[in-house]
Amino acid sequence: MSGQHAVCAVEDVPHESAREFQVGDQSVVVVRFDGQFHAYLNWCPHLGIELNFMPDQFMDDDGRFLVCANHGALFEPENGHCLSGPCSGEALTAVPLEVRDDTVWVGPVGAPA
Ligand code: FES
Repeated sequence: MSGQHAVCAVEDVPHESAREFQVGDQSVVVVRFDGQFHAYLNWCPHLGIELNFMPDQFMDDDGRFLVCANHGALFEPENGHCLSGPCSGEALTAVPLEVRDDTVWVGPVGAPA
């Protein structure tokens, strides 16, 4: 359990949406998609900067992909793979995530790859 951080309750992240949480010195994106939770560093593999301009704005209009606001790269919520954009073929850095007792736990959180 060491290195895990309780970031929110399950109901704090609506279906087909994502929110950011500060864990230590890293921003972590928790996404709820297709009934599953996933977590990634808020770190675009293209330039190594945060994905979003606006708080908690990570999903495209259809709620189908995570978007990098900088250059419009699209990432699969299930595995972080970049499907289109300048970092196509790369992936977001996954963060371990566990749901226990209606609480979302993430970590340990490492540095960006
Ligand atoms: S920094 Fe993310 S697509 Fe350019």
